[in-house]
Amino acid sequence: MIYAFALLQNVLKPAGPQAGRVAHLWWFIFWICVVVYLVVAWLALVAVLRQKRAPEGNERAAARNVAIGVGITVIVVFAVLIASSVTGHEIATPPQGPVDIMVQGNQWWWYVEYQGGKPSDRVVTANEIHIPVGRPARIHLTSIDVIHSFWVPDLAGKIDAIPARRNVFWLQADKPGLYPGECAEFCGFQHAHMRFYVVAEPPDKFANWLGQQQQESRVPQTPEEIKGRDTFLNAPCVACHQIRGTTAHGLVAPDLTHIGSRLTIAAGTLPRTRGNLAGWIVDAQRIKPGNHMPGINLSSDEVQWVAAYLESLK
Ligand code: CUA
Repeated sequence: MIYAFALLQNVLKPAGPQAGRVAHLWWFIFWICVVVYLVVAWLALVAVLRQKRAPEGNERAAARNVAIGVGITVIVVFAVLIASSVTGHEIATPPQGPVDIMVQGNQWWWYVEYQGGKPSDRVVTANEIHIPVGRPARIHLTSIDVIHSFWVPDLAGKIDAIPARRNVFWLQADKPGLYPGECAEFCGFQHAHMRFYVVAEPPDKFANWLGQQQQESRVPQTPEEIKGRDTFLNAPCVACHQIRGTTAHGLVAPDLTHIGSRLTIAAGTLPRTRGNLAGWIVDAQRIKPGNHMPGINLSSDEVQWVAAYLESLK
C-alpha cells in the first residue's frame, strides 16, 4: 500500500495508447528541435570564424540564402502543425466498447462514479479509479466548485474539469499496474494534495472489484467495530459522508461505503492505515489545512472505534 507513494509519473514511458501518441509527438518535435539547434549553432560558428568579408555585389546570393532559410522554416512549422493535428484527431477518436466513468473534481478530492444497468449497480468511490486492462475507459469529467485538471501522465494527456461543463475523453492501460494521477491546475490551498490512483487490473479482477463495490457496506462484526459504527452514525459525520446500508447519507464528502478497500485517504495524502484514519478524525486540519472536514468532538476511545469500523469497510 505504502509503495504507491514511491511511484513516479513518466510521460515518456507511456502505458497506454493515448499517452503513447502524445509521447510519439513529443519525440518527433524533440528531434526536429535538436536538428534545428545543431544547424543554427553550426551556421553561427561558421559566421563568427569566417575572416573574409563577402565581396561587394553579393546581395543575390544573400537573398537566395534567406529564401532557403524561410522555406525550410515554413516546412518545419507545417510538419509540426500537421503532426499535432493528426495526434489530436487520434486522441479525440471515440473508443469502441468503453467503460464509462463519471469523475468530478472537488476541493480537494475526486468523486468517482460507475453507472450500471440499474440504479443498484451504481458504484461510488473516491480518489481511486479502477479500469480493466486493454479496454478503454471513457471519463466524463466535470467539477463541482472551481477548475481542476485531471492528469495521469502514464496514460493520457491532461484535461480540465470545469464546473457546469462535461469534458469527455478516454484513456487505456495496456498492462496491469498502479498509475498515479493528480490535479494539474492550481485550485486552492490543497491543490498539491489532490492526487488519485488509476488501478488497471485484468478484466475478471476488475469485474470482481466492481461487484464487490456494488454491495452495501459490510456489517460490523467485533464489539469494537459495532461501537465504531454507532459512534459514527451518532456523530456529525453522517451530514457529509455516505455509508450505504446505514443511515449515513451525506453527499458532499467522499463515500465511505468501501473505504477499507482503498489505498489512500485524503486524496493520496496518506496511506489508508488505521493509525492514519484515527489521526485524520482527530485533526484533519493539521494534516490537510483548509480541507472542508470540521473538527469532530470524540473521545480517544471513540476515535479508535470509528477507525476500526472504517478500516473494516472492505
Ligand atoms: Cu484541483 Cu488543483
